[in-house]
Parts: sequence; C-alpha cells; structure tokens
Amino acid sequence: MNFKVGVIAGDGIGPEITAQAWKVLSVVGKKFGHSFERTDILMGGCSIDACGVPLTDEAVVSAKAQDAVLMGSIGGDAATSPWYQLPPEKRPEAGLLGIRKALGLFANLRPAYLYPELKEACPLRSDTASQGFDLLIMRELTGGLYFGARKTEEVDGLRTATDTLVYNEEEIRRIAKRAFDIAMKRRKKVCSVDKANVLDSSRLWRAVTAEVAKDYPEVELSNMLVDNAAMQLVKDPGQFDVVLTENMFGDILSDEASMITGSIGMLPSASLNESRFGLYEPSGGSAPDIAGKDIANPLATILSAAMMLRYSFDLDQEADAIEAAVKQVLADGIRTGDIMPLDEAQKQKMTKVGCTGMGDAVAERI
Ligand code: IPM
Ligand code: MG
Repeated sequence: MNFKVGVIAGDGIGPEITAQAWKVLSVVGKKFGHSFERTDILMGGCSIDACGVPLTDEAVVSAKAQDAVLMGSIGGDAATSPWYQLPPEKRPEAGLLGIRKALGLFANLRPAYLYPELKEACPLRSDTASQGFDLLIMRELTGGLYFGARKTEEVDGLRTATDTLVYNEEEIRRIAKRAFDIAMKRRKKVCSVDKANVLDSSRLWRAVTAEVAKDYPEVELSNMLVDNAAMQLVKDPGQFDVVLTENMFGDILSDEASMITGSIGMLPSASLNESRFGLYEPSGGSAPDIAGKDIANPLATILSAAMMLRYSFDLDQEADAIEAAVKQVLADGIRTGDIMPLDEAQKQKMTKVGCTGMGDAVAERI
C-alpha cells in the first residue's frame, strides 16, 4: 500500500533523528511491499527563520492532507537562540501546541518500557530495575493549563500572572475512554493520576473517569495523587500499566518515566485524534547542544515510526519488525552514548555508535 507521511524534521537534532527513522521506514517498505511518500513540513524554529512564524496555515493544511506525520523535535537553546527574544506565541513551542490543537490531537500515548538489555543504564536501584516495567502514560494533550486563558497584568501595583486549568467532562471522558481501550489490550489496569485533594478540575477528572470505568468491568481502576505518582515511578514503576493523566501532569511524569528507561532518547510517542490520524514524535527535546554531531540517539524516533505503522496504518507486523530490530540491536551490544552502561566493565563490552550508525544497525536487522 501507499501511505502519505508528513515529516516535520524541526530543529536541533530533529533532522538527524528523523533521517534515521525514515531510513528504517524505507527498508520496511521494501521488505513488506509498501511505499511511504514523504512530504516535508516546516514547524518550529526553522519555520520562524523561513516564514516568520513557528507554524503557518499552509503547514497545517499540508499536515491534514497526510495519512500521518512523523516529527523530530523543535526548539533551541532559550538562553542563546534569537527565537526566544520573540513573544511567547511566536516561539518554536507555540508551533507544536498549535499543530496539536489544529489537528485535534488530544490523546498522547507515551509508552515507557525498560528493555532488559538497558538495565545497566537504568538509574533506579538495581533490585527495582531488575524487576523491569512496561507502562504507558495516556496524557491529555489539548486541554488543561496548556490551553486555558492566561495573562500577565499589574494588580495593585504588582506584576501578576494567571494561568487557568480548565477541563470539561467531554474532554475528560474521551481521553479516559482511550486509556481504558488501550488497557484492554494490555494488562487491564488504569491508574488515573490527579491532584483531587486540591483541584476542582481533578475532582471532576476523578468523577468522570469513574463513570467511564463502568463500561469496562474487566479493567481495574485506581486513583493516585500526582505527588505520590512521581514517587511511585521511581520506587516501584512495575506497579503501573496505563497511567491516565491531564496535560501538565503527563508532561512532567513522562519525562520522569523516560529517564528510568535509561534515557529520554528511548521514549517514543503518538498523539492521536478521533480518527486514525496521528503525529508521532520522540518524547525528548531538540538537544541543541549535541545537534549536528551525529551522537543523538534515534531510537525513540524509530520507535515512534513503529507506533505510526501500528496506530495510523494498521501495520502490526511491520511495527513488530521495527521493535524486534531495536531489541536485537540492544541485545547485540550496540549503544549510543546516552544508553551506555554506567559500569565501566560493562561499558567495555559494548559497541559505541553515533546517530547514523544506530539507524544503520536497526535498518540492517529489519
Ligand atoms: C513535550 C514537550 C512540549 C510539552 C513542549 C516542547 C511544549 O515538553 O512534548 O512533552 O510541554 O508538551
Ligand atoms: Mg515534555
């Protein structure tokens, strides 16, 4: 089959990591008889440089015309990049928030899995790491603090800033359903994370989630306060299957979850709307400090391409092939710098590669 794939290479390490994912996709296409038709789309800092804004209307139109979009990363170094001299709504991140909203990508899936081969790179206590974990954060992506009204003004002579955390029951219901649906295909557990001891939005979140749960009698629902969840993630991540949470909590917890997999360079993600369309991106940032040095880890992007095959194109076998190739690469001791074992003796047994080398290694094993 032929699939139309938009590619937002973006900024920093974005172009190099998406190049590796594209290479792997091309090999998958050849092996399984599909073609992936690539359309490049500008977003983020590179769009500011070329068009003056981080996301143009044309870019949104082009993205909508694709079957799915694969993204690298956007943004630069806030301390030095001229992009951050611009007002907030013109900075690179505004492009990402804009495309999420414009395409209705409300469901953000961030799976965090500890590959047995990466236990040595996991910063958790070794008895915890050796138990492993396989969890998925279902983060709400188009509501909450990110999209509520905000302003900075002077009140009684003091500079005062306001952000608003708003959710209506429909927004909560649709993301909760996604969490339960995916739990049915996993270990049938949903842990809904909120701050219901303080926030009204969390109390509504908890109530609506409990209503949705009634339609999924086989799934076990639990609730956890977000501060406790942050602690439990490092204490006993194996207890989690699907973690359902609102936008901001999901942003924070998914960075934490990625770190315990060994590196943020390992965590893929899918952002989905009501249809099969999705935007697929690594959870990590643009890492401007290592951009262009061919040392970034492309595995999260390659695994994001696998999620694209699975969720947008229904190509499970092909997605399995990519995931198996990644596992094989790790089993063969091939490592980028970020996933090297911490222990010196273990390190000696590994083969260190760069971004391109890692992409080649995966492509060869498809
Ligand atoms: C993420 C990122 C974004 C977010 C930033 C770049 C706006 O941190 O995808 O997690 O906060 O959602
Ligand atoms: Mg984040």
